[in-house]
Amino acid sequence: MSEQKSARILIAEDEANLRLVLQKELERLGYRVQVAPDGEAALRKLEESNVDVLLCDINMPRIDGMEVLRRVHERPNPPEVIMLTGQATVETAVEAMKLGAYDYLTKPYHITELDIRVKQAAEKRRLRVDNLRLREQLARQSGLPEIVSVSEAMKEAVRLVERVAPSDASVLITGESGTGKELIAHAIHRLSNRADGSFIDINCAAFQESLLESELFGYEAGAFSGAKGRKLGLIELADGGTLFLDEVTELPAQLQAKLLRAIETRTFFRVGGVRKVEVNVRIVAATNRNLDSVVADGSFRSDLLYRINGFQIDLVPLRERSEDIEPLARYLLNYVGGTTKPELDPQALEALRTYSWPGNVRQLKNCLERAVILSNNGRITVNELPPEVARPTPFIPMAQATSQPGAAPDYSATAANASPASLRDVERQQILAALEQTGWHRGKTAEILGISSSTLYRRLRDYNLDRRTH
Ligand SMILES: Nc1ncnc2c1ncn2[C@@H]1O[C@H](COP(=O)(O)OP(=O)(O)OP(=O)(O)O)[C@@H](O)[C@H]1O
Ligand SMILES: [Mg+2]
Repeated sequence: MSEQKSARILIAEDEANLRLVLQKELERLGYRVQVAPDGEAALRKLEESNVDVLLCDINMPRIDGMEVLRRVHERPNPPEVIMLTGQATVETAVEAMKLGAYDYLTKPYHITELDIRVKQAAEKRRLRVDNLRLREQLARQSGLPEIVSVSEAMKEAVRLVERVAPSDASVLITGESGTGKELIAHAIHRLSNRADGSFIDINCAAFQESLLESELFGYEAGAFSGAKGRKLGLIELADGGTLFLDEVTELPAQLQAKLLRAIETRTFFRVGGVRKVEVNVRIVAATNRNLDSVVADGSFRSDLLYRINGFQIDLVPLRERSEDIEPLARYLLNYVGGTTKPELDPQALEALRTYSWPGNVRQLKNCLERAVILSNNGRITVNELPPEVARPTPFIPMAQATSQPGAAPDYSATAANASPASLRDVERQQILAALEQTGWHRGKTAEILGISSSTLYRRLRDYNLDRRTH
């Protein structure tokens, strides 16, 4: 709110005295003022910060005012620009207006005159931004992700989302794989004051360390061989919005330190950069790992945890909120079934309700997608469910007594109806074996298997392989 009162001004003027006078006068009038001595510096400042009104001299070294004006309008959401010049000619004025300048002032001008123009320009920009926000809000209303929440645990999670979303607090979402962490992160962004900004997500487990650093923080031209031009990092793209750090506990130690500094100082350096870049991002992070153990084993910094953990939302496994299974199944069927949504027969529904869903909602969704494809006559019966879901719980008290609470029952005893291992099963076993061998180190596992980290990541997700459930 207070931002609206004091508009942010950038003065691009090469004449040092005039620049200083303008700065002092405008600051006295309550504006927040930055200055640049030439066109190049002005463009740099615009890149680093959010400016409402640019006061731009025409004759400047390096890049002149008209070129600055041209480049400013190539950017999304540009500031309003008022051109200042000594030798006004009608042609330059017309050209500036054509290029999208808000106004044009000829030196010498009185400060009260400048004040009026700046106020009007700032107001115009505010209206433009508001308008954009409203339009996006309208477009969004239909697109708000629906979160099925019948169980008390899930209702509580949704209540927390609603409470924390409008603040700028960092949020850490914890829960097993497939419980809906990403869905919740989206909802936080959509319900926040940053909803008009971008929601940028990055999976911290999906890249090698050096790649992750340049993805996250960007790089300058020449930072390493192959870095031809400057690349903006995801943290910069999330400026004014939300940065979702998925699998945050997988961040390598050096990047944890860099991220912590960026959060604390709200500035960071691009790789190979010497200039600090300001950012204003809200951090939402997620992990399916046990926080106590990653801090205890030293793989995750406790000070970073403390920073991103301003607020924690824990998503309970689906097996511990079985009331959600039926409404979720109906909702997901609507979603995956399209117009010819098949019906679930009572036996199939019962099988869904009693299964333990180690892969949580994602597994339920995959299971229904498959069932929709296999279904005949618009009905889903147990025959269309995967064997592990469809098989009725055998009454073998011994097996139940030895299985862990909440874990999938062990059906190995019922070998009579076991089917031969599918290719998928074999691949899954291979991956699991490699994971065990490396103590779940993803980089080493990918190396052993001869696949890239991102392929490994996708496989872990497809097969619902999660350290906590294995
Ligand atoms: N309560 C819910 N209501 C509707 N859909 C849900 C719900 N929970 C999860 N889903 C859906 O289930 C799928 C998996 O959820 P999501 O990707 O958010 O899980 P995740 O916790 O991020 O998993 P992972 O740890 O594997 O990344 C998504 O398609 C999501 O939309
Ligand atoms: Mg996820």
